[in-house]
Amino acid sequence: MTAVGIDAIEIWTGNLKMDLPGTFAPEKGEDPEKYTKGLGLNASSFPDSYEDIVTMGANAAHRLMERKGLEPDDIGRIDVATESSFDNSKPVSTYVAGCLESVYDGDFHHANKGERKFACIAGTQSLDDAYNWIRAGRNRGRGALVIATDTALYARGDAGEATQGAGAVAMYIDEDPDLVELSTHQGYGSADETDFLKPNQQFPSVDGKRSVQVYLARMREALEDYESVAGDVHPTDVSFAPFHTPFPGMVRKAAMLAYRHITRDTAIEETLAEEIGRQPRREAFDDEEAFHDAVRDYMDSLKETDRYQEWYAETIDPTLSIAREVGNWYTGSVHIARVSALKTAFEQGRDMAGEQLLVGSYGSGAQAEIHAEIVQDGWEAELEALNIDEQLAERYDMSWADYEEIHDAHNHEMDVDVEEFTTPDSEFVFDGWGRMGERK
Ligand code: CAA
Repeated sequence: MTAVGIDAIEIWTGNLKMDLPGTFAPEKGEDPEKYTKGLGLNASSFPDSYEDIVTMGANAAHRLMERKGLEPDDIGRIDVATESSFDNSKPVSTYVAGCLESVYDGDFHHANKGERKFACIAGTQSLDDAYNWIRAGRNRGRGALVIATDTALYARGDAGEATQGAGAVAMYIDEDPDLVELSTHQGYGSADETDFLKPNQQFPSVDGKRSVQVYLARMREALEDYESVAGDVHPTDVSFAPFHTPFPGMVRKAAMLAYRHITRDTAIEETLAEEIGRQPRREAFDDEEAFHDAVRDYMDSLKETDRYQEWYAETIDPTLSIAREVGNWYTGSVHIARVSALKTAFEQGRDMAGEQLLVGSYGSGAQAEIHAEIVQDGWEAELEALNIDEQLAERYDMSWADYEEIHDAHNHEMDVDVEEFTTPDSEFVFDGWGRMGERK
């Protein structure tokens, strides 16, 4: 069977930066280490006044098309995943296509366009749609452009304000991909939850503490479901495990859950048992609460072991390097986790071709998905072409006053005009309705 997967990825960050320990924490009267150590964040990306989900998505897609030498005729569908949409009828992909058509000779009239919504997991769902479309043989030799783009902003004073971010990830899905092949197998954990909602409102209503518990519960179910079709996952089979990263501290919790799960009934559990005891089994406890307490104690001991810390340092920590500097990108978040991991491997000169990634996506509301990916021979050239370090270094570092101004400017309920903090550099800009997506 021909491999189908991600041929290329491009990332586009919002052009502004908030220094969380240096600027944000002091203004909030908080200890900077809550950000650097607790949440695991140094900075977040923010959109300048001329940026939005369309411009960031179009900019990422344009860079991808230029680099891969793609023309509109090579692309048979454009799917945009976002939870920051502003139009309940016309999908964001039509706006993005409009931007791209203004700079290419061809058009996208032949392309199927859509918008995927299921909170942050929608980016992965769009990948799955593209995969299924190609596997079904409906693509007529064309690939799919999948764009995950969000301005993840929270109301001022909301606990989520600490975890904001803005950026887009564009991916080209095709046969014989250069970057990763997607697995046929997937596992799901899905339940009707109300921890994070945006019912016709721009900023989310979030029960933050509960959202953390829901993330972990759905991820555990997805892992079990994945193993029921793909067979047991063993820690040594997985080179990296990129997970949805609303903030790196969340992934610290998810990683421990995953490790406990994939080491149960293995020789690793036996070895660990000498140090910290065997994992608690549900059947050994009369009630749920006692079982949960025992699991919590086991996890507390597990995270102190050298064996766990080594696995975390090798398999999880490299997935967090970009998130630490950009915050939450919602639909794009798990996709920058994949890039972070491969970027680390590239910088270390590792040979990753044929290695396996275990990808954990999550969307509030709520659903988790686990699938595997196999790194392809062309991965190094793809990583070499990325300019994410330059993009991050070029962001404008906001003062607190700048932040308040730009946050108000992006608040749909306020009518505030703000000067640009940065100058567009050959990119699509939002300059008001009717002038959307001009390239300046
Ligand atoms: N030094 C070191 N660590 C510190 C510290 C200090 N001085 N102060 C606090 N910390 C630690 C805390 O112990 C905590 O770590 P643990 O959870 O491991 O105990 C961490 O820093 C965060 O501190 P708080 O829990 O006090 O932070 P908070 O109450 O202000 O907010 C939050 C945390 C609820 C997650 C909030 O950021 C939030 O609401 N975020 C938005 C929702 C979200 O991202 N949920 C994640 C799951 S849902 C999802 O993934 C979908 C999505 O993208 C939104």
